[in-house]
Amino acid sequence: MKDLTRRDMFKTSLAAPAAAAAAAAEIAVGDPAQTQTAPPANAAAGSGRERLLLDFGWRFHFGHAADAAQDFNFRGNFSKTGNFGPVATQLFDDNDWKAVDLPHDWAVELPFQNDPALSSKGFYPLGRTYPATSIGWYRRVFELPASDAGKRITLEFDGAYREVTVVFNGFYIGRHIGGYDPFSFDVTDFASPGGKNVLLVRADATQSDGWFYEGAGIYRHVWLVKTHPVHVKKWGTFARTEVRPGEATVRIRTEVENHGKGARSTRVTSTILDPAGKPVGKAATVPASIAEGEERVYEQQVVVKAPALWSLVERNLYKLVTEVEAGGAVTDRYETPFGIRTCAFDAEEGFFLNGKSVKLKGTCNHQDHAGVGAALPDAVQYFRIRKLQEMGCNSLRTSHNPPTPELLNAADELGMLVFDETRMMSSSPEGLSQYENLVRRDRNHPSVFMWSMGNEEGTAATDKGLLILTAMKAVSTRHDGSRPVSIAPNGGRDMGKFGFAACDVQGYNYADPQADDFHKANPKAPVMGTEQVSAVATRGIYTMDPEHGFVGSYDPYTTTGRASCEGWWSFCNARPWLSGGFIWTGFDYRGEPSPYQWPNIGSQYGIIDMCGFPKDSFFYFQAWWRSEPVLHLFPHWNWPGFEGKEIAVWVYSNLDRVELFLNGQSLGTKEMKKDSHLAWNVIYTPGAIEARGFKDGKQVMAATRETTGPAAKLALTADRKAISADGEDVAMFAVDVLDAQGRVVPIADNEVTFRVSGSGHVIGVGNGDPANRESDKASSRRAFSGLCMALVQSTKTAGNITVEATSPGLTAASANIVAAAVKLRPQVAVWERAVPAGEGVTGLWRPVGVAGQLFTFQQNGNALSGTVEGGGAFGGGGDAPMAIEAGKVDGANISFSAASVAYAGTLKGDAIELQRTGGPGGRGGRGNPPEPAGPRPAIGPPPDGTDPSRGVGGGRGPQSPGPMVLRRVKR
Ligand code: GAL
Repeated sequence: MKDLTRRDMFKTSLAAPAAAAAAAAEIAVGDPAQTQTAPPANAAAGSGRERLLLDFGWRFHFGHAADAAQDFNFRGNFSKTGNFGPVATQLFDDNDWKAVDLPHDWAVELPFQNDPALSSKGFYPLGRTYPATSIGWYRRVFELPASDAGKRITLEFDGAYREVTVVFNGFYIGRHIGGYDPFSFDVTDFASPGGKNVLLVRADATQSDGWFYEGAGIYRHVWLVKTHPVHVKKWGTFARTEVRPGEATVRIRTEVENHGKGARSTRVTSTILDPAGKPVGKAATVPASIAEGEERVYEQQVVVKAPALWSLVERNLYKLVTEVEAGGAVTDRYETPFGIRTCAFDAEEGFFLNGKSVKLKGTCNHQDHAGVGAALPDAVQYFRIRKLQEMGCNSLRTSHNPPTPELLNAADELGMLVFDETRMMSSSPEGLSQYENLVRRDRNHPSVFMWSMGNEEGTAATDKGLLILTAMKAVSTRHDGSRPVSIAPNGGRDMGKFGFAACDVQGYNYADPQADDFHKANPKAPVMGTEQVSAVATRGIYTMDPEHGFVGSYDPYTTTGRASCEGWWSFCNARPWLSGGFIWTGFDYRGEPSPYQWPNIGSQYGIIDMCGFPKDSFFYFQAWWRSEPVLHLFPHWNWPGFEGKEIAVWVYSNLDRVELFLNGQSLGTKEMKKDSHLAWNVIYTPGAIEARGFKDGKQVMAATRETTGPAAKLALTADRKAISADGEDVAMFAVDVLDAQGRVVPIADNEVTFRVSGSGHVIGVGNGDPANRESDKASSRRAFSGLCMALVQSTKTAGNITVEATSPGLTAASANIVAAAVKLRPQVAVWERAVPAGEGVTGLWRPVGVAGQLFTFQQNGNALSGTVEGGGAFGGGGDAPMAIEAGKVDGANISFSAASVAYAGTLKGDAIELQRTGGPGGRGGRGNPPEPAGPRPAIGPPPDGTDPSRGVGGGRGPQSPGPMVLRRVKR
């Protein structure tokens, strides 16, 4: 069997092109329909280029925003280049730093604080008043092979929250501000090929970007990119397509940089591969010279005959393979996935994809999920898009910031249109740069159909707004030019005016009546809803319960003045000119609790809760957004104490009519109106309500809600039967609390504990309760309305993953999935200091209170060998290990010398107390200056020219090394 890649795993899952079938057939594990994930764009290693994931094997420690002593003495540390301080050195003692892998969000691990100032961010203690939890430091040591000499070495961050200082090998490299904007640094001059390299990142989350939960730290991927000096610039390819009957022209723009010595004659060959990987077009430029340190833009055209268009159903992805040749050799090979499709807006008929009318059935979403906060593993991006598709959603808005690139990969591969949004509406250098990064990074994704220049910016409705948005639009025109731009306005009052005049499509947030008025007055202007609904609901709850922070799940509970799900969709669907819109929101998210405050800590706007469990309105949309028959009945039928009282019973369905029964007695039949719902008021008696749905006169479906018995057992199901054993992939294990007859107990809140054995581990838990203040970083969680979930991530060892769910007094459940062997995507090897094994004092030791010194001991009987590293003047040689000489262990007595310092002392438990003598003295290890020989004059230096300060005390005199205590350490 050939090596499987994540890509192979992914191809087996979705209506895949035929070529994938072979790969699928070779996977002996699991249900192919449930596997996934794809590699990032440009992952392929070509000539000279490597793009290595730098996610694994980091160390993390909190710093302090107000106290340098607790912030690794960070006071700027910019006085001398290459001398940032001990924390940036390889020998720095990071034994008390926590091992973490990226993506990592430290905010989600913090305890909630009932501080109203933290409300919109979800009551996590971040910001000026929480200096001890607002700064995070990350360290990563890695080796570069000697063969990297001469290559360009770049560190790429997909995003980090929010102000980041990057230090490499002790050199301050740069800062980056902005929690969603990708950034990179060329660190070639500071790298040590053939040696160890230390990357240090200080992330400051004191300030925030938005008004919602945003996480903290390096919450997206980091990459180490190596290239030949003559290479494709970052995001330097663009495949713009124009479709005609029977063919498409691919206009290719390639930006090549020459970081080598002297001018280089360079040419670019572009090959187009079809979705099956077959070359279907090729073009080569003539050689052109690029001066040293300069770049050149190459323009090419390739015609593709009978193109397989990308659509929501057929996710045909082409690949542009760019080869850069300089001096007769291929110096770079760069891959750009892209799609061929057309998108257009029509003022009368709305949005068209490939010439076919498509109503945009969209949701807005933040980047935030149960168990993981803002640090979504790629698999969770795919999970979320699949969930949205389950309800019929075909588009999403990345409110209110640039998304993680993998969200766009998932959208390309699963078939979801993306309204791609920048964070800051601004034509300041920073604002334009962020917008340019968004456009350049995302312009090849066929899923991205439109750029959003911001959200609810009051200034957009001013003359300044016109200047700002015009300048922003010029950026996307320059770097893309194939997509329309818009902005999500605060309301709809000024549609088409001020800054909105710069928009190709007029958006509006919530203001349906104004949109109507605008369309009447401007029948030639395309209109798309940019944010709608804002309905609130707590999953499985049907009463208003301020004490617990719950909202009833009947649709009409909304933020004041905004539409319900049904209110908006029936409005939208009745207007062909309205291209569709984006509901606030698809998934619940942390922060912005509404309508209540504490104990609510999260929003309830989602149609789906934080875990991915659908709320009732999910089925409203499923009924009217998808074509399959739907019949959904609510509320549940466990209402002790409500006997004899009226309960509103609702049905979401797209069938013709529905008959409702209570305990077998018909309560009447109702005709279903398009885009609507049905409701009965039913006097509660325990038992069962049942809905029977009819289509063309025949009963085609039934749905029942029964009064259950008490919780008796658990059921556990995984969303996928096989995941990749790559240390990244994630499966969702959902628990249903059941009664003895196997019915979900809709009011159960039992505590559930997850235990994982085999090739996986729990990375977080959740239950969708917007007021739950248990930690998501745990292995147990109470059920909420009968359900809870654990997110389980694979290790890199193939095998089974067995999850057991237990709860006191209930029958436990277990589920088993496979972690399948895959070829790992190219990544930087985790570096761990070697710890020698052996008898006695063998191991690693560090002096107490001395930063950056390490003793490596190897005891063989009475003989002691090893090295001393670091420590400045006393036995150190910087990074060069000093060999231990004349080492002896005699019972508890230890003696040795290294770099002309003699050490002698005793082992006391886990400590070694040592006296030191000798050594080079002075600073910097320059050796002892000679003692003055002759008599000294009362004023002036001795006649022999020796240093008069010698022997008179003070900081520069001979130093006595003094005692030191070594402690055994792990690293
Ligand atoms: C909108 C805003 C969103 C969210 C929402 C809540 O006005 O754009 O970010 O705050 O209100 O209803």
